[in-house]
This record gives sequence, C-alpha cells and structure tokens, in this order.
Amino acid sequence: MSGYRFGEVMITREELKERVCQLGAQISKDYEGERVLAICVLKGAILFMSDLIREINADVHIDFMAVSSYGATTKSSGVVRILKDLDSSVRGEHVLIVEDIIDSGLTLKYLKDYLLAQGPKSLKIVTLLDKPERRAAEVTADYVGFSIENKFIVGYGLDYNQMYRNLPYISYLEEV
Ligand code: IMP
Ligand code: MG
Repeated sequence: MSGYRFGEVMITREELKERVCQLGAQISKDYEGERVLAICVLKGAILFMSDLIREINADVHIDFMAVSSYGATTKSSGVVRILKDLDSSVRGEHVLIVEDIIDSGLTLKYLKDYLLAQGPKSLKIVTLLDKPERRAAEVTADYVGFSIENKFIVGYGLDYNQMYRNLPYISYLEEV
C-alpha cells in the first residue's frame, strides 16, 4: 500500500465487548470443570486475548507464541518461523489457540499441526475475525467473533506496519 486512508469504523468498541462476552460464555460452557491453556498468537491477538480470558469462567492458564511468515511479501507463504515458543508443554492440555484474524489460514494451519504433534488432550481455535474468502489452507476456527469481507483491517491489536494496534475499535485501510 503506497497511499492509504482510513475507512469507517467497522466494529465499534461496544460491539467488540458484546461479542467477546458471548464467546467467553460459550467457551466457559464448553470447558466447564476443565483446565484450558489459552495460547495467544503475538502480537495481534493480545487485546482480544486479554479481554476474552476475563470472560472465561474456568481454570485458565496462558502462554504466548510469536510466529512470522518467511519472505518479504505481504502474502503468507505457509512457511512459518517460530520467533517465540511456548514456556511449557502442551502435552495432555486442553489447548485453545487465540488468534486475531484468519486470512489465508496458512499461519494457523502450521501452528495447529505444530501443536497437535505435541499431544495436547484437545485443540481448539478461537479467532476474533475471519476472512473466509481468502482461505488457502484447510483450517477452520471453532469459535469466530466476526466473519468479515476482504478488507485490510487495523485496530484492536491488528496493525499496519506496527501502527494502529492501540485503536479500541476495528477499522480498515483503503488504498488511494
Ligand atoms: P494468514 O496466514 O494469511 O492467515 O495470516 C494471518 C496473519 O496475518 C494474522 O494473524 C495477522 O497477524 C495478519 N493479517 C492478516 N490479515 C490482516 C489484516 O487485514 N490486517 C492486519 N493483519 C492481518
Ligand atoms: Mg496474527
């Protein structure tokens, strides 16, 4: 993107809060009486993660992973480099991957296979946003906050060149 401008607010702060509450309630029900290891995929998912876990009424443990796709293009290649791995083992744990957005799905597919190979008791995915149109890898989330059209999203953790993560709402950028 050479020149861009902000689109409208796509999802307001209030809408985010309401949906995160609903997801938390559903997850609390599904994991009742269990311990769940919530794994935040850095950096984009931090705001969603911190709001979501406060709405989960279960024994929640947290951990973090940072990954980056190889290559300089903005297109995900499917080859993922682990920049920060988990602090503890997922063997025997009920793992819940917490993502900001699923675009091509290539990053998440890699991450899912990587974690499944370590023998968790179960593995589910929650994503705040889903762009189903763009899917290239076969991966679906168990919980989706909002299914959206193919726009470049910023705010509530999502960035453009590391900017705009702190916006308390979801907006998008348009090329000009
Ligand atoms: P995927 O491998 O193509 O699914 O890419 C997933 C990652 O790319 C996400 O976890 C985001 O960090 C980033 N990403 C994808 N779409 C957007 C967007 O619209 N805005 C900001 N970051 C995005
Ligand atoms: Mg991400």
